[in-house]
Amino acid sequence: MIGVTRAAAALALTLMLVGTARAGGDPARGEARFQDCAACHKLEAGSNNVGPSLQGIFERKAAALADFRYSPAMKRSGISWTPETLDKFIADPQAMVPANRMPYAGMADPSDRADLIAYLEKVSK
Ligand code: HEC
Repeated sequence: MIGVTRAAAALALTLMLVGTARAGGDPARGEARFQDCAACHKLEAGSNNVGPSLQGIFERKAAALADFRYSPAMKRSGISWTPETLDKFIADPQAMVPANRMPYAGMADPSDRADLIAYLEKVSK
């Protein structure tokens, strides 16, 4: 009986720890998720590709880079990039900014997005 209780307690603790990690996102997993973006986005300053550099993204407003040709939709969006606004954008880019020119259908899984954002918070500074 004690064994069962211990096992249950250990399981509950594990779930709690996993739960905490998920809420904040896991940057190591997020690095793999960034493969979805890496074809078009670099993380180095001034390095635009098909998409604009994501360096310093969480200190920027949408369409802030002078050397990237953004769509009128992105310029008009008025977004300040935060973990929350980026989460909403990558879930469904066309829903948040209709007629933007980012050819990406969206990342459906909230925990994948949390991991990706944790990675970007770490490496985009
Ligand atoms: C196939 C190319 C492509 C892929 C894949 C892609 N993007 Fe983009 N992204 C773009 C383009 C092009 C724009 C500019 C859109 C516009 O001006 O309408 C953009 C814009 C953005 C912006 C706005 C930047 C700014 O300076 O305001 C963010 C943030 C962003 N992308 C994040 C991501 C993330 C995160 C992923 C991966 C989940 C991703 N993108 C995948 C091409 C891509």
